Amino acid sequence: MKTSKAILALLTAAALAAAFLTTRWTGIAGATDPENLSQAVVLRDRDAGVVALGAKVYASECAACHGDGLQGQPDWRVPGDDGLRPAPPHDATGHTWHHDGDALFRLTKYGLAEVIGDPDFATGMPAYEGVLSDAEIIAVLSYIKSTWPAEIRAQHDKLEKRQ
Ligand code: HEC
Repeated sequence: MKTSKAILALLTAAALAAAFLTTRWTGIAGATDPENLSQAVVLRDRDAGVVALGAKVYASECAACHGDGLQGQPDWRVPGDDGLRPAPPHDATGHTWHHDGDALFRLTKYGLAEVIGDPDFATGMPAYEGVLSDAEIIAVLSYIKSTWPAEIRAQHDKLEKRQ
């Protein structure tokens, strides 16, 4: 009798701990798709196959706005007449490299509004959930990273290890 009570108490504690961890983790990740909550995304900019796929995805999905040479749109710091910000560069002159791979992944997949938690946030950046697979999103971001100068990549590596 005593033993079964102890076991019950243990099971309850375990269930509570699991529930707590799940809630906390969902909160941190801030994303809605449970399959991506298990581990943080790390970019694979030294994997030639991944980078080659990413270059193709970039050309077909991103270059129209972010530029063939990742240079962004002209005057990208100044909002247009519609109040929306132009597409920033993805090269070393922009701030893409200030964000770790996981943040870039979530931003590209779920969109800016979802990531900052404001559904009304107006932005010209599309969300790629259902358009690109997770592997394609990781590939395109890995390609972008592969074009940065060595010291910027090294700084970004440090960011990624912080996750
Ligand atoms: C229709 C135009 C358009 C396309 C296509 C587009 N973007 Fe963007 N992107 C934008 C705009 C505009 C912003 C700035 C958003 C803002 O600040 O509101 C942006 C911002 C971003 C940012 C944030 C950069 C930062 O420094 O915070 C990332 C990352 C990004 N885009 C990745 C991509 C990727 C990867 C693709 C292709 C899969 C892509 N974008 C395709 C318009 C576009």
